[in-house]
Amino acid sequence: MAITIHYDGFPEPIIANEGDLILDALMLAGVPVPYSCQLGNCGTCKCELVDLEDDSNIMELEYSEYALTPEQRAKGVILACRTQAWGDVHVRPVDEEDLIVHPSRILRCSVTKLEALTHDITGVTLRIDGGGPMTFSAGQYCSVEFVPGASALARDYSMANTPITAARDNLLEFQIRATGAPLAQSAATYVAQQLKIGDAVRVSGPLGTSYLREKHGGPMLCIAGGSGLAPIESIITTALENLFAYHIYLYIGMRTERDVYHLDKFDALAKKYPLFSYEVVLSEGDESKIGTSPPRRKGFVTAAVAEDFPDIQGMKAYLAGPPVMVEAGTKMLLGKGMEQRDIHADAFYTAQDKARNLAKETA
Ligand code: FES
Repeated sequence: MAITIHYDGFPEPIIANEGDLILDALMLAGVPVPYSCQLGNCGTCKCELVDLEDDSNIMELEYSEYALTPEQRAKGVILACRTQAWGDVHVRPVDEEDLIVHPSRILRCSVTKLEALTHDITGVTLRIDGGGPMTFSAGQYCSVEFVPGASALARDYSMANTPITAARDNLLEFQIRATGAPLAQSAATYVAQQLKIGDAVRVSGPLGTSYLREKHGGPMLCIAGGSGLAPIESIITTALENLFAYHIYLYIGMRTERDVYHLDKFDALAKKYPLFSYEVVLSEGDESKIGTSPPRRKGFVTAAVAEDFPDIQGMKAYLAGPPVMVEAGTKMLLGKGMEQRDIHADAFYTAQDKARNLAKETA
């Protein structure tokens, strides 16, 4: 029985027979698809299922885990030379930058610097004392245990420094916002109230897929809220230092002026790199800035982006911050036609957010 294979970028649907290997069908149709061993050993023929529900329309023959790791497979990546199509399938070439994996590490660290960045955000710098070296991609996060062994006080935090400076200085920088949760359950409250210079801290990682895609050939749109600025700072600085050739737009969404920080850093970057610009948007406004030039923009940061970018063709977006902002931003970008694969988003769920979501799921 005939089935159809769609391949992104190839104009015609490809008609194949049930049980055909996807690579054979693509090659027969003249699709310029890369391949080498055709035995599931090299990984050259990797492609991605566009619709994960197509999983039920394929059957995979044996292949080497070197060619395709379980983590990659879980993301919908398949080997075209080892995958039979038994129903309609939609695939596309895989973006190798989506598959970066750094070795997982457990680091022994100590606190070398604590800095009040705002009334409720603390900059925490950790020196790596053992377990390294750790490599990571800009935008990734680690699980941080501020009291080693006390898992109730462990939480995921994104690195704010760049992978290059982290390796050079043997330091990891985090930006941690106090949530007001009780001390016994909250890493952020522990940081705000008890953490001190010299304390031992355990860090595991790196984790996360919302990291900088350095090979992207188009402008970057970055939206950060609250301490979500940390991974975005790392992404932007890394891209600029690597001489990213397209414009980088940063939108910082905060509640009021007293939540804003690190503008001196972004001013210096904007001066040094003409392809970088940023804007601060305050959701609750602030009288203290009236009379300054330019005055702050008021409203929701995602609405400001929607207004400024009627056309987002060719852009990639990075979002980090409170779930409500990340969800609204993602919805807005999808509504403007941005593909999900071009939206890299990290929502910072607090322990309370997670508990609420769990309650909703089990209700
Ligand atoms: Fe080598 Fe498919 S061509 S794994």
